[in-house]
Order: sequence, then C-alpha cells, then structure tokens
Amino acid sequence: MRIGVLTGGGDCPGLNAVIRAVVRKGEGVYGHSIVGFRHGWRGVIECETVALTTATTRGLLSRGGTILGSSRTNPYKTDDGVARALDTLHRERIDALIAIGGEDTLGVAAKLGAEGAHVIGVPKTIDNDLSATEVTFGFDTAVQIATEAIDRLHTTAESHDRVMVIEVMGRHAGWIALYSGLAGGADIILIPELPFDIGEVCERIEHRHRGGDNFSIVVVAEGATPVEGTMTLQSGELDEFGHARLGGVANRVTEEIRERTGYDARVTILGHVLRGGTPTAFDRVLATRFGIAAIDAAHEGAFGSMVALQCGQIVRVAIDDAVKELKLVDPALYDVASIFFG
Ligand code: F6P
Repeated sequence: MRIGVLTGGGDCPGLNAVIRAVVRKGEGVYGHSIVGFRHGWRGVIECETVALTTATTRGLLSRGGTILGSSRTNPYKTDDGVARALDTLHRERIDALIAIGGEDTLGVAAKLGAEGAHVIGVPKTIDNDLSATEVTFGFDTAVQIATEAIDRLHTTAESHDRVMVIEVMGRHAGWIALYSGLAGGADIILIPELPFDIGEVCERIEHRHRGGDNFSIVVVAEGATPVEGTMTLQSGELDEFGHARLGGVANRVTEEIRERTGYDARVTILGHVLRGGTPTAFDRVLATRFGIAAIDAAHEGAFGSMVALQCGQIVRVAIDDAVKELKLVDPALYDVASIFFG
C-alpha cells in the first residue's frame, strides 16, 4: 500500500512520535510505502510530498513540532481545494491517508471520507477537547509546562505581595487551565465553559488577602469570557475555520484587578510555550500507541475511523463521532478546584 500522512492545525508535542511509529510499523512490518504531505491539507491540495522511511524518521521520539510542517488550510475554503486534494490522492496512488489533527483537520478528513477518500484519523490537540478519546497527546506536556510556570510565579508572587495572572491556551475548553491550576494551587481558575464576573473574582482575591495571604495566583484560559456586559474584550482576526485569534484576556483581567482592588498585579501569557519542545514520557507513549494503531487501521482498511484512548485501551471510533461535539471540562473536577479558591 501507499499510505499518506499529514499533520494539520496547531502543532503539538508528540506529532513526530506518531509519524515515527506509523513509518516504523508501516514500512518495517507491513512493507508499505509512507508518503508525507507537507503543511497539513495545503500539502494535499498542492501535492507537496516527502518520502518517509525508517532511516529518515530516526531520532524523532523526543523532538517537538512536526517534521512535516502544519497549517490551518481548509480545502473547503480554498478555490477547487476539495477537487485538487482528491486529485492528488488519486495521482499519488494513496491507498489510505492518516490525518493527525484536532477538530478542524479531522472535520475535513470526515468530509473527504464522505467524498470517497480513504482516511484514518489520529486525535491531536494540547487543548484535550476532542470527544471520543479520554486524552490527546500534547495535553500532558502542556499541563506540565504550565504547572512549572505557576510554581515559579508562586514564589515571586509571595516575595512581592502580588497578584499573578497566568494565561494558558484553551480555546473552547479549560482543561489546561483546570489541570495546571489544580496542580499549581491556583486561587482562581477562569475557563471558557463558565463565564466569569470580574467583580466576584476581585472579591475572592480581597477576601483571601483579608485572611492574611498577601499574594494570589489566577489562572485564565485564553478562551475565558466575562459575563455579558461586565467587562470588554478585544477580538482577533478569523482563520479559515472561522476561529478568532485568541490571547490577551489575561491582560484585561489584570488591569481590572489592579484598578478594582488596588493590589499590585502582573500578567504572564504562556501561549505557544505550551506547544513547544519535547513531549513528556506519557505523551511519547500515547503518541506511539496512536501511530501504531493508525497504521494497523490503514492496513486493515478501517477507513473513516479514528484511533482513541478509552479505559486505557486504544480503540477505533468513527471520525464523525469524534468531531460532532467538543469535550468540555467536567464540572465535578471544577468543583474540586474551587474548594481552594479565595
Ligand atoms: O487548537 C490548539 C490551540 O493551541 C488553541 O488553544 C489556540 O487558540 C490555538 O491553537 C492557537 O493557534 P495558532 O496561534 O498557532 O494559530
């Protein structure tokens, strides 16, 4: 078989580990040829390919980013994009295409599948908001980086009697904010699922300071939004999937805390730091298991399926089911974190 691989959307620690696993088993065990498409769906539309072999994918396990490059190109928003993508798959004699991505990349995979393409999905996002899988690789790494940052900000917050506001990624779901906030002992966590009232946030901080604590740690997901009419936010430009560029809500939260409470407040936006660098051991193992399961699915002709983690086991689900709705934060877990607020 000739099997294509692409990585789409925001990059994520562990992508290279998936590619390495696909190639190692695809070539080494099944004897298939593996073809990489550069820059996500753009490489399929423009037929930008690279041969992937065991020799060219050595040493990838610990490497962040993606050797294939990535983009947010949407064939359904590009002139003749779908026809050109299908034409490339035909001309390159691709028997199966393994698409590694989040809701957008996999959404395109599902639609192309309905048009006859043989696609297999591998779930990827540091945000951990994909349904049908308990966890995506990259999430553990992001939480680890954020937690270490919160720990470091804790000590300097104490030294200077400051409120430290830390912004982490998380467009629709606050998983990274919740996990890193819990692990780092945050005094307040703001997530997209629960619009916040800045007045209440300030009250909690003041209550805590009246109780003798001279500093506070506030973790904010980039997609957190204020209750309507309570605070203004700036909105960024839209990408091809209709998502606004986020980043900066913490600046506004910090300004408001400073003005309303009079406390000294500082902001740290972690942003893309959470997506860069080497994956944790957990993410390397998960990414490798997903890669092996994806090449098995391609070999067996299980097209239209996505590999997923359920109860510790790797299973196959329909890509459609995985992209139907996002996996939002579990309210019970937020309740656990909120015991430590204020
Ligand atoms: O989708 C994952 C994600 O990390 C989001 O949390 C974030 O909003 C987005 O990617 C940012 O992506 P970029 O700035 O690379 O386009």
